[in-house]
Amino acid sequence: MVKAVVVGAAGGIGQPLSLLLKQSTLITDLALYDVVNALGVAADIAHINTPSIVTGYLPDKNGGLDKALEGADIVVIPAGVPRKPGMTRDDLFNVNAKICQGIAESIASVSPKAFVLVISNPVNSTVPIFAEVLKKKGVYDPKRLFGVTTLDVVRASTFVSEAAGKPAESLNWRVPVIGGHSGLTIVPLLSQSNPSTSFDQAKVEELTNRIQFGGDEVVKAKDGAGSATLSMAYAGARFAIAVLEAAVGKGSSSQPEYSYVDLTSDQSGAKAIIDVIGDQTAFFSVPVQLGKNGVEKILPIGKVNDYESGLIKKAVEDLAGNISKGVAFVGNAKI
Ligand code: 2OP
Repeated sequence: MVKAVVVGAAGGIGQPLSLLLKQSTLITDLALYDVVNALGVAADIAHINTPSIVTGYLPDKNGGLDKALEGADIVVIPAGVPRKPGMTRDDLFNVNAKICQGIAESIASVSPKAFVLVISNPVNSTVPIFAEVLKKKGVYDPKRLFGVTTLDVVRASTFVSEAAGKPAESLNWRVPVIGGHSGLTIVPLLSQSNPSTSFDQAKVEELTNRIQFGGDEVVKAKDGAGSATLSMAYAGARFAIAVLEAAVGKGSSSQPEYSYVDLTSDQSGAKAIIDVIGDQTAFFSVPVQLGKNGVEKILPIGKVNDYESGLIKKAVEDLAGNISKGVAFVGNAKI
């Protein structure tokens, strides 16, 4: 039995994410929670003939969030509001921080052992919010908390393979992306691209900027109707399935996953990371080996060049502020 819960299931990311999770034969129970429309989305998705039983929950129907979370193995959270043109992810903090705090409190009391995958922005700050609430409730396991940064890796594969003139190879094109999930905190390591590339420095900088601000392309194109939903759902589902496959011992990929995690989730693996990035940030998106308890190992980030070292330095500075903001929010909150 594997129960997956989507919190924010009726929203722009939540609906396609729920659909993609319904395609997984690994999931036996799919619980869809939202503050509106969750029953309709659940009824619709429930007609798809894959094995999982789909149930919808509203705050005042079917027992609300706590009931949805009962027995959860994995909780994927795209809840909250998206960006409008001109906004940064950080501009969402005031609204989404409160929403994340409430969800974290419910997880802490109902399903503290579940894997928690945070998509709600600003991820750089919302993941620390989850960590702090779970700590306050005495149930924090850093190995089970993940900020979803897979979309940055997905975008990097797409943009780099296209720039190399080989878009057909994008699915197997690996470009590590570390750091956080916002603007300059997103650090693509093009020097480690596999297959390798021979872009000049101007092209490397152009591609780096496109990967860092890829989300803005979508916000602009949607012209007021929100931010990336479909590609984010794809990335979120891909990462959720990877977490579940590893948990049941079915991990199919020899490639690491990248996720924004608490570096204490694997102290010995984190040592090699701290040698490169310093000790000013408690969370960082790193290559991880997943296992039955979540983060099994934090893997080394490999050799970075001078340009990438500069990017890391800037990312760490920004992340330290983003993280403190999330920690302070919970510090001041009544829980
Ligand atoms: C992105 O576009 C929505 O944060 C998400 O990267």
